[in-house]
Amino acid sequence: MKPVKLLIIGAGSRGKTYARYAIEHPDVARVVGVAEPREFFRASMAEKNQVPAENVVEDWTELAARPKFADAVVIATSDALHMEPAIAFAKKGYAMLLEKPLAPDAESCQRIVEAALEQNIIFAVGHVMRYTQYTQRLKALVASGLIGDVVSVQHLEPVGYWHYAHSFVRGNWHNEAASSFMLLAKSCHDLDWLRYIIGQRCVQVSSFGSLKHFRKEEKPEQAGTATRCMDCAYETQCPYSAKRFYLNRLERNEQGWPLDVITTEFTREGVEAALNDGPYGKCVYEIDNDVVDHQVVNLLYENGATASFTMIGTSRIRDRETILFGTCGELRGDGEKITHYDFLTEKTAEISIEHTASGHGGGDFGLMASFVKAVATHDASYILSGPAESLETHLTVFAAEQARRENRVMPVQGL
Ligand SMILES: NC(=O)c1ccc[n+]([C@@H]2O[C@H](COP(=O)([O-])OP(=O)(O)OC[C@H]3O[C@@H](n4cnc5c(N)ncnc54)[C@H](O)[C@@H]3O)[C@@H](O)[C@H]2O)c1
Repeated sequence: MKPVKLLIIGAGSRGKTYARYAIEHPDVARVVGVAEPREFFRASMAEKNQVPAENVVEDWTELAARPKFADAVVIATSDALHMEPAIAFAKKGYAMLLEKPLAPDAESCQRIVEAALEQNIIFAVGHVMRYTQYTQRLKALVASGLIGDVVSVQHLEPVGYWHYAHSFVRGNWHNEAASSFMLLAKSCHDLDWLRYIIGQRCVQVSSFGSLKHFRKEEKPEQAGTATRCMDCAYETQCPYSAKRFYLNRLERNEQGWPLDVITTEFTREGVEAALNDGPYGKCVYEIDNDVVDHQVVNLLYENGATASFTMIGTSRIRDRETILFGTCGELRGDGEKITHYDFLTEKTAEISIEHTASGHGGGDFGLMASFVKAVATHDASYILSGPAESLETHLTVFAAEQARRENRVMPVQGL
């Protein structure tokens, strides 16, 4: 079979990850076009993937305007920049891998999914958590009836104090108007994952949460008027010091995420310049961030099962943790291992999982492998995050956010 020809729209963090899959699997996928306004990232992807010069452009519209010349498009632009390219490339008949979230509002999500369904294209959303070995094992165990019927689920997303500060205080997703609200930006994965594992539609939601800590009022007095970690007398005592966080990574010779988000110069001078001038050196108490740092969501499913979900920014960084309570036993998972407790035998057993090495617990490349296979064989059944269910779980997220804002229980739209 010929390698699937891919266009990458947006050569930032996510675009690079998906393009790397093609580099590592040249027999099944090849990047033949890239659109990216930032010169360094555009040139770097073009060179690494040997993209023909005529297909290396600054803006996605240039590629969408041409007659279709590849099999599929990967759209990895920022959240607010998904709808227009998604609809344009769908109309051209490209198979599509669209990063999550579909779009920042329900109507745009609906429009994207309608376009994908109308054109009958292979369409996958970047819900990478569905594609890990861990998730597949957990889902198979639940489906096998090992713990009977699932009655309730407790699911925790410990975002991690530094990851939260990096992405959601200083970074791309710090301000709702500029990107999207926290539950959509980060936890749309989790509400989608719960739906997948439980195998039921969510019908009602309630939610609480706020931005509690990363606000001016919470700034330690000792930090005085400093607005950047590089000039702050309190910096050595601050858990959120950008100076400590990024320079330590540099000392450990790390060059990948998250250091590659703040600079392209992996030297002390390069990182210090980013901390002195760029957003990632700002004091976490002195930014126009407004997304919540903690949120809980309660979910009711069609068959009466329930789930409670917690997203917490001020946590040790680690994988999500889940307990599934069934009628005959419990399953506990921490992203690495699964433990089963059986009510009849009163025995606990550890269930081993084979892990693969790519990002998001193997989900990044798991998704790409499935997507590429679906495109090559014209068989959408390889896609675990297709249009209809992705829209359904996005609508659950919008309902939960409305529940939080309006302090009420919300039905999930479209049911
Ligand atoms: N699936 C996941 O687990 C996961 C994880 C992180 C981010 N994301 C999502 O992936 C998307 C991209 O996130 P990211 O971290 O890679 O962001 P990023 O900012 O690193 O990359 C986005 C890129 O799009 C480029 N771009 C802007 N305008 C463009 C245009 N007109 N044409 C082509 N490219 C253009 C930007 O220059 C940038 O390089 C977001 O929607 C984000 O929410 C998904």
